[in-house]
Amino acid sequence: MKKKLAVALAAAMTLSGALAAVPVMAEDSDLIVVGFAQVGHESDWRTASTQSCQDVFTEDNGYDLQFVDCDNDSATQLEAIRTFIEQDVDYIIVDPIVSTGWDEALTECEDAGIPVIVIDRTIEDSDKYVSWVGSNFKTEGLAAGEWLKAYAEANGIEEINALVIEGTTGASATIGRTEGFSEIADAEGWTILDSQDGDFTQSGGQEVMESYIKSYEGQFNVVVCQNDNEAFGAIDAMTAAGISYGVDGDVILISFDACTAGLELVQSGDINADFECNPLAAPFVEEVIQQLEAGETPETEVYMEEHWYTYDDTVSTFEVDGVEQTCTVVTDEIVEAQY
Ligand code: AHR
Repeated sequence: MKKKLAVALAAAMTLSGALAAVPVMAEDSDLIVVGFAQVGHESDWRTASTQSCQDVFTEDNGYDLQFVDCDNDSATQLEAIRTFIEQDVDYIIVDPIVSTGWDEALTECEDAGIPVIVIDRTIEDSDKYVSWVGSNFKTEGLAAGEWLKAYAEANGIEEINALVIEGTTGASATIGRTEGFSEIADAEGWTILDSQDGDFTQSGGQEVMESYIKSYEGQFNVVVCQNDNEAFGAIDAMTAAGISYGVDGDVILISFDACTAGLELVQSGDINADFECNPLAAPFVEEVIQQLEAGETPETEVYMEEHWYTYDDTVSTFEVDGVEQTCTVVTDEIVEAQY
């Protein structure tokens, strides 16, 4: 595509001298080829992320999307990147399953002249990508902790004994949410009874919760699930064990993502608070690609907007690092508009 685009623009210059004003029609062969190495299909969030890319990178929009579902396997993801290099795609999008182990593959992309755009999760051991689009996971964890602090104060709850169901080990979403929530827990002197990997899946959440119930029944009053699908699994496990949760229950249930099904459970009071992670990165990624196509330099970091959702306004505002945060009470309109 890049060579064909250059030829079209050069011809246009000879004829009119005006590069910017000349539309380049996307025929089959003119499509911008984008390889996307997606994490997998582990959650509602992930489905929405994939859909976002498939909606934006269509042939009608001038793209040929090469999509690989890496099924949460880092080796598969690295192989997908190398296949994209062999195919000589125009751009590579990657949502890194884990945050390390990237420099060699990204150096190969750089050597091949293929710009890489990272979405959602971050890469810690390489800077060989042009742009990252995503969310601040540590802020999400801090927000969950600050909200719990304010909620406990408002309800006269003096002791917090929490169980955490983490996401995939090594994923930056897990690392950031864990760090953020732990920072508040440490400062407040809360007890984190246990913190185990639920792999961001419903079955993982259920399995970890079942084992927590065996080990800690009667000892915990907070469960933090690092995504909604884990919360669905934890709910099933607690329901089966006769443990009450949510706004009228014995256990405060906190979740992340705020997908449609998660927000329905906030609205019904089963989940007390849900901290959004925005999966709709593709329009921002397209902007980055279009800037690169135009020879411009895109932002190296693009943060997407997120909201904190609650059942009611027991806590309407709190601060994270001195910045006021607002809680949004879930309504039918919000649920309908969510991903
Ligand atoms: O990286 C984003 C996380 O990954 C989302 O919280 C989760 O649902 C997904 O699997």
